[in-house]
Amino acid sequence: MIQTNLNYLKDCQSNIDIEKLKLILLKRNRLLFDEVNKSMLKAVSDQPNIHAVYKNYKDNAIVIGRAEEIAPEMQKTIQAHLETFCPWRKGPFHIYGIEIDAEWRSEIKWNRIAPHMDNLENKSICDLGCNNGYFMFKAAASNPALVLGMDPTRKFKLAFYYLNHFAQEKNLHMELLGFEDLAYFNDVFDVLLCMGIIYHHENPVQILRNCHHSLKKGGQIILETMGISSKEEICLFPKRRYANMPNVWFIPSQTAAENMLRRSGFTDIKCIYNDFLDKGEQRKTNWARVESLGDFTDPDNPKRTIEGYEAPSRIYFTARKK
Ligand SMILES: C[S@@+](CC[C@H](N)C(=O)[O-])C[C@H]1O[C@@H](n2cnc3c(N)ncnc32)[C@H](O)[C@@H]1O
Repeated sequence: MIQTNLNYLKDCQSNIDIEKLKLILLKRNRLLFDEVNKSMLKAVSDQPNIHAVYKNYKDNAIVIGRAEEIAPEMQKTIQAHLETFCPWRKGPFHIYGIEIDAEWRSEIKWNRIAPHMDNLENKSICDLGCNNGYFMFKAAASNPALVLGMDPTRKFKLAFYYLNHFAQEKNLHMELLGFEDLAYFNDVFDVLLCMGIIYHHENPVQILRNCHHSLKKGGQIILETMGISSKEEICLFPKRRYANMPNVWFIPSQTAAENMLRRSGFTDIKCIYNDFLDKGEQRKTNWARVESLGDFTDPDNPKRTIEGYEAPSRIYFTARKK
């Protein structure tokens, strides 16, 4: 089913420690077969062996197959499979007529970055923290040479595997890798997406340095982070939770984030968006029955989190490796 086969990296193998990666991935891919993933694994192994005729990645929803391509019974089976991957955090997806309304309206993010991104045709792209691959499919619309999605979370790999089995996009690959593993990639990517990552980790600068290392000279990073509105060069460092999340560390102001990029080696730094996150972009849905942004902001003052901190803004940058 899921194999460790890195042949798709052969064109850039002189810049990648392939042997090391193979060893790492052999171990990590074995963990996919853990008991905890049982229902998702069953969905993957029982997946109908069909390939979508109609695909569209240009509109807001990633469309893979239309309802008319399959019998109603098969659609029910696919719906049940897709439900095993709940909660769907990123989307929307339309799979053979089944509309997955995910917690995040990821198309809003994509539409903010798309006008600022280099042309992706024939390029090598990395989507760091790719989740279920929503942005990888969006990138596929531009015919890139390769999109490598990295995410160490196993259930997202299974979800991506399920989706791409129908889509059969041969230039999209997702591996159980994290920012730490970018150290094995030197001058490889033309464009790297680093969105929703740096504030979740203790060392945001190390993440950015690893991104810089993995980009080709002239390559572009698209960075998106949670932020605060201060004009000073500071970060909010929450005592414990922030918007109920236990895994939030440094939340930078725009200038602090610019400084992080600069001190990680990036040049040509441009802020392309900075505004408060809206409940229309992140919310509870039938496919993500989870507490969401609306539950984590003060009901009397949506500009404050339930802990009393400033509510999150989202700040986006583009920058380059010289
Ligand atoms: C907030 S989500 C962001 C997803 C997506 N990039 C977006 O912007 O919508 C963070 C993602 O980072 C992934 N992640 C966790 N640890 C990571 C690591 N060490 N390196 C890269 N990604 C990681 C999580 O599994 C999750 O999919």
